[in-house]
Amino acid sequence: MPGIQARTILTISGSLRQHSFNKDILHALAASAPAGVSFNMFEGLDTLPHFNPDITEIPAPVQVFRELLHAADGVIICTPEYAFGVPGSLKNALDWVVATGEFNQKPVAAISASPLASGGDKALAALLHTLTALGTRMTAASSLSIPMVKKKINELGEVTDLATQQALEGVLGFLLEEFG
Ligand code: FNR
Repeated sequence: MPGIQARTILTISGSLRQHSFNKDILHALAASAPAGVSFNMFEGLDTLPHFNPDITEIPAPVQVFRELLHAADGVIICTPEYAFGVPGSLKNALDWVVATGEFNQKPVAAISASPLASGGDKALAALLHTLTALGTRMTAASSLSIPMVKKKINELGEVTDLATQQALEGVLGFLLEEFG
């Protein structure tokens, strides 16, 4: 497209569930993408082996994950909270890129969604700590907690709550601004 630089956003759902609310939110964000911005959902969280710093021969799924991150202009992570923390499969994926720099200076948005009133706030706080350790570019505008998510998404997986739609637009706006 002449005059517009194409951008890619990699999205990562912390939930592996097929009919996940967190995936619904990522799909809703993708559906609202402006021209020139493409969304790509990373589907391989459960293909990554357990992180072990002793592993020197990088497993193929890890290589794929690192390349997708490297190629992305920005990343959006949307995750549930499990037992007051980040799901293990998501934390494992992030551990694989602690030392390799794919997240360094990358604009990243972090979202938690939960059927509870707390909105997964403890998982979000933990995720933000990890993303800070990874050197991501974030501001207050790049994180969002969505409480009572079951009441805000219909059976088609569409976000029906106006305030949530607006908050998601704000998160996407952060990334687009960071792209310049
Ligand atoms: C949960 N859930 C949950 N929710 C929450 O807000 N805080 C929590 O600590 C937990 N802990 C927890 C543990 C386990 C093992 C499960 C299976 C679930 C509920 C969780 O938020 C809910 O299942 C969401 O719908 C999961 O998100 P997805 O899969 O719909 O995206």
